[in-house]
Amino acid sequence: MADTYNIASARAYSNIAFIKYWGNRDHLLRLPANSSLSMNLSALHTTTTVRWLADMAVDSLTINGEAPTVAALRRVQAHLDMLRRRLGTTLRAQVDSRNNFPMGAGIASSASAFAALTMAAVAALHQQLSERELSALARLGSGSAARSIPGGFVEWRFANTHEDSTAETIAPADHWHLVDVIAIVSHQHKRVGSTAGHASASSSIFQSARVETAAARLKEVKQSIAQRDFELLAQVVEADSNLMHAVMMTSRPPLFYWQPLTLAVMEAVRGWREDEGLRVCYTLDAGPNVHCICAADDAQTVADRLSDLSPDIDILRSGVGGGAVLLPPVVRGRAACTK
Ligand code: PMV
Repeated sequence: MADTYNIASARAYSNIAFIKYWGNRDHLLRLPANSSLSMNLSALHTTTTVRWLADMAVDSLTINGEAPTVAALRRVQAHLDMLRRRLGTTLRAQVDSRNNFPMGAGIASSASAFAALTMAAVAALHQQLSERELSALARLGSGSAARSIPGGFVEWRFANTHEDSTAETIAPADHWHLVDVIAIVSHQHKRVGSTAGHASASSSIFQSARVETAAARLKEVKQSIAQRDFELLAQVVEADSNLMHAVMMTSRPPLFYWQPLTLAVMEAVRGWREDEGLRVCYTLDAGPNVHCICAADDAQTVADRLSDLSPDIDILRSGVGGGAVLLPPVVRGRAACTK
C-alpha cells in the first residue's frame, strides 16, 4: 500500500453517563458488568489524525502537539496493536490527537480519544465498518468510547461477546435540549484511573446490588428521555451516580473522588431543584467535578449560581453532541493527499 494515501482524520465527542458503566464481566475485552446510557457532549471533542506508514519501527503519538506521558503512549500502542491484529495490517501509525477542552480540566478524554482514534485508524486503512463494529473496536480502548461513536443519547448494551457489546443511538441529539454545565472543582489529574477502578469494583459488597438493579434504572432513564420527563431523569441519574460512588468508596482499596466542594455543589443542585423548581440534577464520573445536567432554559441560571457558590469553581458548558465523524485529513506541515 502506498503510505501517502493511508491517512484519515476523525472527530468524536465526549459523553456523560446517566447510567454508569463501572466494573467489567471481562476485563480484557472490556465487556461491562451492566448496560449504560449517556449523552454526547457537543462542546467537548477530540480530533485525531492517523497515518499508517511502512517505514517506521514504532508507533508515534502527539497529544495537543506535545509528546504524551509514557502511560498514554503505552495505552494507545496497545490499542493500535489490537487494531493491527483485527484489521490485518503490520503498518505502524503516526497519531496526532487534539482535544478542544483543556487537558488539565480534570475532564476525562478517553471516550472521545479512543472513539476518534478508532474511526481515523480504520478509515486510514480504507476499511469500511458499520457503526456497531466501530463501537465495539472503540470499546476495547476505553469502555465509554463505545458510546462516543453513535450520536445523541446512546445506550451501550452489556453482552457476553465482543461483537454484541456495542452502543447505539436511542434518541438523536436534537430530541431534547439538555445542557451539561460542568462545575470544575479541581484541575488535578486523578490518582486512580477508571481502568484500575473497574478492576476493583467487584471487591465492594455493593457492586452486585448496583449491577442487579441497573436494568430497572436504565428502563426509567429511557422512559424519561422518550417523554422528556426531567423530574424522573433527575431522580434516577442522581441515584445511579450515588450508587457508583458508594461502590467506589467501599471497594478495596477504596476510591474517594469527592472533595468538599463536590459535595457542596451536589447539595446546592438538589436544593435548587427541590426548593425552587430549577430543572437541574447532578452526576459525577471518576473524579471530583460535578456535571450539572439542566434543561436548556435553566442552564444560564445554574451556571451563574455555580459561579456565585465559590470563586474556586470553573465552568464548562455543553449541549448534546452528534456521533463521531470523518473530517478531511489534517496534514500538519504539508498538503493532504487522500486519493
Ligand atoms: O471508559 P472508562 O474505562 O474511562 O470508564 C468510564 C467510567 C465512568 O466515566 C465513571 C462511567 C461511565 O459510564 O462513563
